[in-house]
Amino acid sequence: MRRYRLMIPGPVEVDPDVLTHMSDPLTAHYGERWIGILNETKANLRAIFRTSGDVFVVVGSGNTGTDMVINSLFDEGDHVLALDNGYFGHRLGEVAESHGLRVTWLTKRWGSPFRPADIDAAVAGAPDLKAVLVVHGETSTGVANPVHDLAQAARKHDLLVVVDGIASLGGEPFEMDAWGVDVCVTASQKALESPPGLALIAINSRAWQAIDRCQGHRGWVGNLQTWRRFASEQADYHPHPGTIPVNNVVALRSSTRLILDEGLEARWERHARIARVVRSGMRAMGLAVMADEDVACANLTVIESAGLFNPGALVEFLKAEYGIHIAQGIREWFDKAVRIGHMGPNASLGAIVPLLVGVEHFLRQSGHRVERGSCLAGLT
Ligand SMILES: Cc1ncc(COP(=O)(O)O)c(C=O)c1O
Repeated sequence: MRRYRLMIPGPVEVDPDVLTHMSDPLTAHYGERWIGILNETKANLRAIFRTSGDVFVVVGSGNTGTDMVINSLFDEGDHVLALDNGYFGHRLGEVAESHGLRVTWLTKRWGSPFRPADIDAAVAGAPDLKAVLVVHGETSTGVANPVHDLAQAARKHDLLVVVDGIASLGGEPFEMDAWGVDVCVTASQKALESPPGLALIAINSRAWQAIDRCQGHRGWVGNLQTWRRFASEQADYHPHPGTIPVNNVVALRSSTRLILDEGLEARWERHARIARVVRSGMRAMGLAVMADEDVACANLTVIESAGLFNPGALVEFLKAEYGIHIAQGIREWFDKAVRIGHMGPNASLGAIVPLLVGVEHFLRQSGHRVERGSCLAGLT
């Protein structure tokens, strides 16, 4: 099978030293050795979330984490605000509705970020709101909602702040405690540079108080109360309900070590710099970046085709000629956009220069008048 450099917005390329742990001999998911592995992984994650709160390592993908959080944090009929400016913002509201919550949808055009005033206006019409649900890095558009500002606005109205950091954590600046975020969910396979299979949930004491106030708790393994009980009663032996995929955790321990060795600030800066080179190159070739510069994601970029090129043809060209796999748009943007993940090992010139050259090559060979070398405009 031909191997492509994975530049979709997750899963991403995984360092060979991380990947190799997937074939380590199995170890027990309990006992002293395991506790050492899990506790170091959680400590690393706490440092990456920038929180002193609790972190849970859960079997499943990012959606599993979101589903568990919403299941645990609210009672049926509770009222929440879903910030819907993309496919995954909509997903948060959908998950909330599936648990019987009353959802007020705040909807914006894909590509347009939310602002604190949007929350102020929504709260004015709905005094019983309990929480705001927001995506940080919106993978369908390449917009990073300004979570810091939104969280401040939500806190002013005493709302809980629940953040989907699935596509952002580890590449995009994020400070859970300092920003006033109560719960953040992420997944192993994006900027944490590990194989898919784990959801990571960070939760603070304010969110635990909300959980403790809930009347009707549902489910067992999908309920964070069960996870808290195991973490406390079996802290030194088997601190989670059920069997955890140990190799995934060992791999995640290894990738989080790499992340912390690099240093979070240095890493955020590397991702931001590479993202700027991608956006500058795309614009210099006459292409439209969906996100405005001040709210563009550091981890991924979405390019609108605007009738200039066929996204499916570009994806196939890059695979065939450059061995690079990028993604088409999501839902109604499937045939109108491409999505490029440039996080983790792909946040490097070694990854993005061939990508940009490939896009320019494709445009020129499709008959567009693109000045040779313009794809590298961001390098100057
Ligand atoms: C922002 C965002 N939220 C949620 C998800 C869903 O995560 P998962 O596929 O890990 O369940 C994704 C996946 O691409 C995402 O990018």
